[in-house]
Amino acid sequence: MSEAELLELHGDEWSLVIERLPKGGFAWRHLGERLEPGSLPAARDLIGATTFSIDEPQPLPVFPLHGSGWFGPSILSLLAKDARALDPEFTSFEAVSSGDCIELRFGDDREKLSCSLRFSKLASGLTIETAIRNEGRDQVVVSSLASAFLPVFANANRIISWRGRHAAEFEECVENLPAHGWHRTTHGGLTGHGGPPACQILAGECGWHSGLAFSAQLAWSGDSRLAIEKHDEGMWLLTAEASISNGEVRLEPGESYHSPTLLVAISGAGRNGVAAQQHSMVRAIAEYPAGEMRPRPVHLNSWEACYFAHDEARIKALASAAAVIGVERFVLDDGWFKGRDNDRAGLGDWKPDPRKYPAGLAPIAEHVRSLGMEFGLWVEPEMVNPDSDLYRAHPDWALTTRGTPGPTARSQLVLDMRQPAVRDYLFEELDTLLSSAPISYLKWDHNRAHAPSGGSAQVRGTYALLARIREAHPDVEIESCAAGGGRIDAGIVRHVHRFWTSDNIDAIARIPMQRGFLAFFPSEMMGAHIGASPSHATGRSQSLGFRAAVACQGHFGIELDPAELDPSERDDLDQWVSFYKRWRGLAHGGQTLLGEGPNGLTWQAQGNGREYILWIMRTDVSHQRRDAQLPLPFAAGQDWQVRLLDLVGGDHVLAARSGKAIDAMRETPLTFSGSWLARAGLPLPALNAEGVAIFHLEAA
Ligand code: DGJ
Repeated sequence: MSEAELLELHGDEWSLVIERLPKGGFAWRHLGERLEPGSLPAARDLIGATTFSIDEPQPLPVFPLHGSGWFGPSILSLLAKDARALDPEFTSFEAVSSGDCIELRFGDDREKLSCSLRFSKLASGLTIETAIRNEGRDQVVVSSLASAFLPVFANANRIISWRGRHAAEFEECVENLPAHGWHRTTHGGLTGHGGPPACQILAGECGWHSGLAFSAQLAWSGDSRLAIEKHDEGMWLLTAEASISNGEVRLEPGESYHSPTLLVAISGAGRNGVAAQQHSMVRAIAEYPAGEMRPRPVHLNSWEACYFAHDEARIKALASAAAVIGVERFVLDDGWFKGRDNDRAGLGDWKPDPRKYPAGLAPIAEHVRSLGMEFGLWVEPEMVNPDSDLYRAHPDWALTTRGTPGPTARSQLVLDMRQPAVRDYLFEELDTLLSSAPISYLKWDHNRAHAPSGGSAQVRGTYALLARIREAHPDVEIESCAAGGGRIDAGIVRHVHRFWTSDNIDAIARIPMQRGFLAFFPSEMMGAHIGASPSHATGRSQSLGFRAAVACQGHFGIELDPAELDPSERDDLDQWVSFYKRWRGLAHGGQTLLGEGPNGLTWQAQGNGREYILWIMRTDVSHQRRDAQLPLPFAAGQDWQVRLLDLVGGDHVLAARSGKAIDAMRETPLTFSGSWLARAGLPLPALNAEGVAIFHLEAA
């Protein structure tokens, strides 16, 4: 019997243990909750060979390839130049390990290929990347290279993933672990409205606050494939990869291909535990101007206030109305550039429309700045309308199949971001714009799927353009938008600072969407606006307070014309702007904890361990006269002073009245023990449909 030679990497909550096999290669020994492996027998001494299969015991490989006695999914698929399948057989193995990283290297002397698999600690999570390099003399075609191949907990029982469409992002889907396979695949050329390429896997009784949870998100803005397959030995195996189009990645001698990074979280503290690790990694990747996130400014975005119908006078008036209620960043949305009176023309011609803005954008930007606000501008650089000067001059710059541009969607075509000339043109246009006026923010939109596909190189072309803009204008922040939330992922997060979550601002629709967003991204990046009532997306009407309470959970903004509100509503809006400014320091940058109560309640706490702002929400009518007390598991361990900051939706005719002690909590905080709040629960005010109670908790 021999002792295993182990490689270990540990986070605060997780451990990864890999064995270097005596005959070469590396095998999985553990990916799960934190542990100290001590000394272990070698894997091949623990498992026997299975009947009627490979005679040697087969420990679970970390970099599995077909053709080697492995009958599960392969991490890599290659073709030689003559279209012959190329199955590497690794002959050399190396492990380089430091405190924060393990890199495994694999070499094939005959086919002249080298591969690497890198595990690194990032903030409180784990990142995984793979790469392949052609060391030979002939071209090699990479058909697929997964970012990771991972064993799933043996007692896992649920997969949570998200799907969506325009104006209905992040629909949560809960499925059992499969008998055969589970796949989440996207084909639109960009991330899609189901959110990032990501899933959570839950074991046993895992819930929001406790139990073993795993989550992974691929840092990638293009087509992707997540797969969980059941192996005939009984375990589930996860692979995650960016899709590669047929023949797209051809490695010439000396060239490499790098997979996008997979961000992995493992926690015994349930879904909130893995979300916290994902937030920590996303924050570590994000690059804010001057290296630090400033308090997230209150936005006013012109889109739903005026759509395409604006000119200098209209926008100046809207900006003035915004400034009066305390807006800090004014964003001029679609409709400002040449020929853009509707969505059928103009994309590609990034010059102010002389009919609407005869003196360009500088007078608007200066007006906005003189009112004490920043000025931001909407662009959609990767697109072109056939009715544009750009398309008339360069029809060959759109993605084409056999020379014919693909079908239009929203009357537009996708530019071929793989072409350096296209990227150069867009850089020049955006650079000129940003230099022409004090513009410190871009809302970068992308309003259609790709047809034909530009493959993964299209995505890398967009990343290159964004990086160039950020380098030339490091003080400019960027918002990622794609017909609402169609490009929310950790791949683009290196270049952007905010996501537009959805074109659906209806607060009832927003609550589950925002919870999906928060599974992977922190609240300060979640664009959340108060829209008009009735909602432009759903036609439903909701009180201003309800809309505002839900919007305050993210990076708050306004998507209506304050001048069109009646004076009392405008005062309310003014107060919500002040409310957000008062509490954003607590709501952003720290933890976000989600939970559910009985009787249809959901809740959300944002804070730092010693202080929280807590939203308790009811969307529909309660069929009970009263709510039971609401247990808050995060409160255990210390006493809390609890204050009621606001009660939204409690002012209609049939509203139930809260108890005196709860009303008094508006003025004087009540002290509760942590164990009372965690186990017996917080007494609740009367909450009816579309009601939100907002509390402040501070360690006593
Ligand atoms: C889609 C976005 O989601 C909207 O907010 C708006 O910017 C429009 N595009 C403009 O065309």
